Amino acid sequence: MAKAQPSDFDWSKLGFGYHDLPYRYRAYYKDGKWSQGGLEEDSYLQVSEAAQAFHYGQEVFEGLKAYRRKDGGVNVFRPDMNAKRINTSADRLKMPHVPEEMFLDAVKQVVKANQDFVPPYGTGATLYLRPFYFGTTPMVGVHPADAYTFEIFATPVGAYYPGGLTPTSYVTSDYDRAAHGGTGAAKVAGNYGSSLLPGDIAHKGGYSDAVYLDPRLHENIEELGGANFFGITKDGRFQTPKSPSILPSITKFSLLELSKEFGLIPEQTTISIYDLDKFSEAGAMGTAAVISPVGSITHHGHKHVFYSETEVGPYTTKLYNRLTAIQFGDEKGPDGWVV
Ligand code: COI
Repeated sequence: MAKAQPSDFDWSKLGFGYHDLPYRYRAYYKDGKWSQGGLEEDSYLQVSEAAQAFHYGQEVFEGLKAYRRKDGGVNVFRPDMNAKRINTSADRLKMPHVPEEMFLDAVKQVVKANQDFVPPYGTGATLYLRPFYFGTTPMVGVHPADAYTFEIFATPVGAYYPGGLTPTSYVTSDYDRAAHGGTGAAKVAGNYGSSLLPGDIAHKGGYSDAVYLDPRLHENIEELGGANFFGITKDGRFQTPKSPSILPSITKFSLLELSKEFGLIPEQTTISIYDLDKFSEAGAMGTAAVISPVGSITHHGHKHVFYSETEVGPYTTKLYNRLTAIQFGDEKGPDGWVV
């Protein structure tokens, strides 16, 4: 794959895709410690055919973004949260931790080295960073690896959902994304692999993506395909599912905070699929999705429309504007959110 050049991009028309940029950061774990990491140019990795991650799934990853400010500088949003979460995910798969300082230094190195690919201010596009690491020890027995490769690559991206802020339509899935006590709260490749078939069924049915219900009762909303769910109740609450098997979204924790600025009461609670009438607006939230309005959810053939299938609701608009203004440096947010 040819290396991308900044002149290749029409920044305001970018989709959510991979481009092979000049530099990525890599570090290698062996004999109980990480190597001195650094930037590398080759986007291809040479790994044993029997590498643990290919067969037994030791892989964890993260997603975060770099934002071009109006003054030309670059912000990264809450990278310390990603550094912590990757280690929580690693615990679940019996993988060693990545030192937080190494993670944060790697983020800075990758953004600096690829800074010409941070899209211009005003285009809405960002530089998406994908930190990940995986077990490389060759094996056929099922064990944790003792060698790992850590990498952060970058790729410029536009909106995750092709329509941007246009409301999306969802359908509940009969499949589960994560079992109770499973890996749903860890950001691991397998969770996304298992979402591909239900996602395809949803797309073929004409929907943007699937809604997963809790694996035990199939009654309460857990998570959307690639993002967390929120609803704004008619009595002014910002509600999002409370469950041990969903991804602890950094955008969710940020919006739980920011919702208070608009007089909303933040709540993590059980949200029944049979109790959607209480919401005046609903949305998906995540690093890739940012905030994307949910126009409707169809469950067992019954379609529930939230605010509108074509328009964005007032609270969703306010939360989107406030969050992105902080991320792009137009407004000050809580201390420490922007680096
Ligand atoms: C992110 O939001 O950064 C993710 O990793 C989700 C993925 C579906 C793109």
